[in-house]
Amino acid sequence: CNFLKEKRRQEILEILCNGLAREEYRGYDSAGLGIDGDKPNEVVFFREVGKVAGLRKQIAGSSIDGEKVFDSQVSLAHTRWATHGVPSTQNCHPIRSDINSEFCVVHNGIVTNSGDLRAVLIKRGFEFETETDTEAVAKLTKYIFDTHPKRYTFTELVKLVLKELEGSFAFVFKSVHYPNEVVTARRGSPLLIGVKTDRKLKVDFVDVEFAREPATAPSSTLLTSPSSPTGTSLLVPPKPSLANRQSRGFMSEDGLPQPIEFFIASDAAAVIEHTKRVLYLEDDDIAHIAEGELHIHRLRRKEDGDQTPGQIAGTRTIETLEMELAEIMKGKFDTFMQKEIYEQPESVVNTMRGRVNFDTPKITLGGLRMYLPIIRRGRRIVFVACGTSYHSCIATRAIFEELTEIPVNVELASDFLDRKTPIFRDDVVVFVSQSGETADTILAMKYCIERGSLCVGVVNTVGSTISRDSHCGIHINAGPEVGVASTKAYTSQYIALLMMALQLSEDRISLTERRNEVIAGLHELPSQIKKVLEQDATLQELAATVADKKSLLIMGRGYQYATCLEGALKIKEISYMHSEGILAGELKHGPLALIDENMPVIIIMTQDSFYPKVQTALAQITARKAQPIIMCNENDESFPKNAGLIRVPKTVDCLQGLLNVIPLQLLSYHLAVKNGCDVDFPRNLAKSVTTE
Ligand code: G6P
Repeated sequence: CNFLKEKRRQEILEILCNGLAREEYRGYDSAGLGIDGDKPNEVVFFREVGKVAGLRKQIAGSSIDGEKVFDSQVSLAHTRWATHGVPSTQNCHPIRSDINSEFCVVHNGIVTNSGDLRAVLIKRGFEFETETDTEAVAKLTKYIFDTHPKRYTFTELVKLVLKELEGSFAFVFKSVHYPNEVVTARRGSPLLIGVKTDRKLKVDFVDVEFAREPATAPSSTLLTSPSSPTGTSLLVPPKPSLANRQSRGFMSEDGLPQPIEFFIASDAAAVIEHTKRVLYLEDDDIAHIAEGELHIHRLRRKEDGDQTPGQIAGTRTIETLEMELAEIMKGKFDTFMQKEIYEQPESVVNTMRGRVNFDTPKITLGGLRMYLPIIRRGRRIVFVACGTSYHSCIATRAIFEELTEIPVNVELASDFLDRKTPIFRDDVVVFVSQSGETADTILAMKYCIERGSLCVGVVNTVGSTISRDSHCGIHINAGPEVGVASTKAYTSQYIALLMMALQLSEDRISLTERRNEVIAGLHELPSQIKKVLEQDATLQELAATVADKKSLLIMGRGYQYATCLEGALKIKEISYMHSEGILAGELKHGPLALIDENMPVIIIMTQDSFYPKVQTALAQITARKAQPIIMCNENDESFPKNAGLIRVPKTVDCLQGLLNVIPLQLLSYHLAVKNGCDVDFPRNLAKSVTTE
């Protein structure tokens, strides 16, 4: 934060801790902050392994003077999810360059050449105190500062540092050499700046233009060979005229500097309680904040080629967020995950709102409109995603192929990249992601953009990287999802992909009946989901009967294969119980060996064309003494009333997975509670995996 407004230190600490707590849902394992001390050039750190509550306790127990007033202040805070170095107070950010904390850095992402940088810096006499990749960055900053006679501006210095780095990052830098200034930059990791001011701004939207860097600017290079990309940088002139400043909206109408606060964060949840006005930085942007002014600079990229700065320069606009803080709070529920499971009757409606006309019936996806002809002409469609989002792709693949008659491949983003999958200009690639920030999915999208294919984003988080960088797409509008284990995003992704298939097939007369059947099914869905949720108590009882088992198998086929995978993932993620989703067609090729009287098996037997085949699988496992838990339709009389059954309403075959997944979400939830697990923050997992 950078303030031009008086603030007590206590208030600043509060802002930082609250911001961290709002980011905590991403699932991190330690938290820390750095704030100016009482003496000049002193930075005081608090660091704690575990949750932000621990950090708050540490601050409360310290002797720091909370009443001290600052009229301008830069402080840093960070929650960490370990990539280099175990979770420990030592490895906790902010990371300092040296014992005097001349430079302090917080960092999301991974610097992949940190090992090389570390080795070079050690040779130059630096001693490392952490195992983090970030420390190499902090020390490199100090090294460049110390060894160059020219007094660089803070931005110039950071630019020189960034030119030496490989990998993905979002950084915030603070330094005793540049008091009350902050520099922040991103490449590959999300970063936004919230802007808050009491005074009315002359303009609401901010366009930042770029000008050529002054001739006196430093040239690369410091540690790497001269062949490393040097790059002319682009920047806003450091001291713009008053007129310029007004046009950028950071001066009040009377031209007087106004109280203004900046909040830099990786996610809007951290800033929303202070301001709804945010500016999303783009890759290679470097933002400098000082004296209540924000300047954005940009490193020239390889792909910029010989373009002039004018050709490269884009605009950065302050957007007003729609999200309400209440939307990201728990409400009457014990956990976010439980709340999100229960939100599904409404979240699915929100996904369809304004897009499905049940009377005509017709689907209109505004974000795809102009691209429909290109998609229809595509020679294949490739879905790329990770985790739960991947399962929503598997769930909808069959209906997508049936309706569009275009072959669909489904790819895990990491594997797609590992294989360097051949991708062509006439491929349509759909990137499905709740957060829109999953590193593997973003990298896969960049890979496809470079190869000229049409990239479609299906995301929940408005303003996220995938939402901004894809050519077109669908926001699933499920509302903020906080629980690390994804639930309502799955059902909304499922519907979004289904709507896409329905719209693509609207000109196929032969499919009209099928389309109408599916759309009518969508209409019934919210009330049917409510009915499934009424079975919560039954699922709690079921959880009690299997909680002490080592493993739980979930078996089905056809449309329900994805349900099996997603149910098993939920159970693994939050209850730490081993669980596997099994395609019933593969039973005889291995999984049957696992079956005995002690192995609990959930078998999904809702009625569709695969029902007789699943009956065969049921016979095979009961012959091996398994005591299956059967998920079947309400009206299915084939099973004895008192048997361990999970009953769900019947819907159209391709929609049945939307109902069937909900009992499994509830089951996983109760298993986790029963086993004493932290439902919203499962160990070792993150909500948004922003590293490869
Ligand atoms: C993490 C989360 C999962 C999520 C996956 C993909 O593993 O814990 O819940 O499904 O990332 O995330 P995305 O935001 O791309 O859907």
